[in-house]
Parts: sequence; C-alpha cells; structure tokens
Amino acid sequence: MRIIKYVDIMSAKNEGRKKIIISPGIMVSPYARETARSFGIDIVEYSRNKREEKNMRKLFIAGNWKMNKTNSDTVKLLSDLKPRVSDAGEVDIMVAPPYTSLTLAAEILSGSNIMLGAQNMHHEESGAYTGEITADMLTEAGCSWVIIGHSERRKYFGCTDELVNKKLKKALQKGLNPIVCVGEQLEDREGGNTFEVLRRQVTKGLEGITDLVTIAYEPVWAIGTGKTASPEQADDAHKFIRELLADIYSPEDAEKIRILYGGSVKPGNVAELMAKENVDGGLIGGASLVAETFSQVVKF
Ligand code: PGA
Repeated sequence: MRIIKYVDIMSAKNEGRKKIIISPGIMVSPYARETARSFGIDIVEYSRNKREEKNMRKLFIAGNWKMNKTNSDTVKLLSDLKPRVSDAGEVDIMVAPPYTSLTLAAEILSGSNIMLGAQNMHHEESGAYTGEITADMLTEAGCSWVIIGHSERRKYFGCTDELVNKKLKKALQKGLNPIVCVGEQLEDREGGNTFEVLRRQVTKGLEGITDLVTIAYEPVWAIGTGKTASPEQADDAHKFIRELLADIYSPEDAEKIRILYGGSVKPGNVAELMAKENVDGGLIGGASLVAETFSQVVKF
C-alpha cells in the first residue's frame, strides 16, 4: 500500500506543483494532507474510470519483462496476475516475457484478458542469424504483439531507425501488432534536442507504413532509473508525436493511435500520467515483474 507522506508534499512544493494526482487506492497521511493544504497544493483522486467518462482512447498497459523470469517464475507470476486483473475489462493488458517463456505463457493466458507479446524480432523471414527470432516463430508461440526499437535494443544491440522500419514492416506483414519505441537520451533533452530526436525516430521508423501502429514514448533517462518524466513532459512529447503522426497518416488517424508512456511507471505515479490527454497507457518494466504491483498499475 502506498502512502503519500510529508516528504512527497515537500518534493511537490519544491517542484512548484500545485496539484498531486493519485489513484483512489493510495492513502494520504493526515500530516501530509494538512501540509498540502498549507502550501495550497490540491490532492486530487483520479482513476481509470474517469478516462472512460471523458471518452479517451482505451487504456493499454503493457509489461516488458526484459531479461527476467525463468519458466517456473513465469508460471508463478502469471498465475498470480491473471485473477488480479480479470475484472479490468476496460483496459487492454499485455505482457512480454522472454522468448523461452512465450509458449508456456500463451498456454497460461489462454482464455484470459491478458495478451502476449515479444520483446523484439528479426526482420528477415528465416536464415543464418544465430540467436535471432522471426515473426512466424512469435505468432506460432502465441504472440499477438511485438515491441520494436526498445531503447535497450538501440543502445546495446545496434538497432537503428532503419532496422526499426524493416522489423515493423515484417511484423505488420505477419499480422503482429507492433509497439514502436522512441525516446531521447538525457543529453538530447539537456541539449534541447528532444523533439528533433523524436521527429527522426518517428519519421524514419514509420517510413512507408500505412497501418496504424502503437507508439511508446520512453525517455531513456527515465528507464529503470526511478526518474519519471513529469506528466507535463510526457504529455508534451506525446502531443508532439501525435502531430508527427497526423502528418504521416491523417489527423483523424493520429487521434486513434495509442501512445504509451514508459520509464519508471509505478502504482504511485500511474494516475497522474494517465490523467494526461495524450497519454494512452504505459509500457512498464520493473513494476511489471511483481503481480501485485503490475495489477495496481493496470487498475489504478
Ligand atoms: P522501467 O522500464 O519501467 O523499468 O523504467 C520501462 C521500459 O523500458 O519499457
């Protein structure tokens, strides 16, 4: 159970925030409430039901397990997760375990409201690419989603915008739903180049693509670091990406596309991020590895 304490109010004050948005499951200590009032900071509850009332795009919460979980861990985590989120009908939910667990995960998730995705794929049909995996292998294993161009793939495994584009084309050809990841490095943000980087990644990544695809905005400096982009920073980046999508597709289509935010999303900050007009869900790393935490993010 997360509790909003005095320190949280102090950090909101230091950041100049006048409003703290929390999900209804989060407690506020009496002292924190009093302190907030004295600083003129509003504590506002926001839940996923409010999104429905406002007719926002359907929420999509995806868990990226990265290089974590053996087969036995997968059985435990998914068996624990399934009942916890079975009543979250108004949210699309996906998990992306490691390749070795995909078939097993597909069996466990069969008939549930949790979809299955992979963390990467190769763009070729088949061949001499030791250690790689094809779209057909993923669909046969039971995947309907694939994450493409995650910043860790870009950073450690040489994934370029050109490769993102090739992978994307192959995934779509094979009927997989891609989540295309984009996001700037810390030096890009500090150098004022965030939008330029996003423009390049989105336009090159989506070159020649006519199908609508899901996008994940993940500022690299916020991934696994505990630093989250502020809801305003996230919304600004998402708004900019949506403008790019309006040019690539059409303004109407851009309105249909879901743009997820990723980077240290957790139960304590999910509500304020998802309250933003252009934030349509989350790509969750660390917080997707524990069933209770992930279900709190799903059902904020
Ligand atoms: P994080 O990872 O939630 O652990 O920051 C997000 C991601 O890389 O998708």
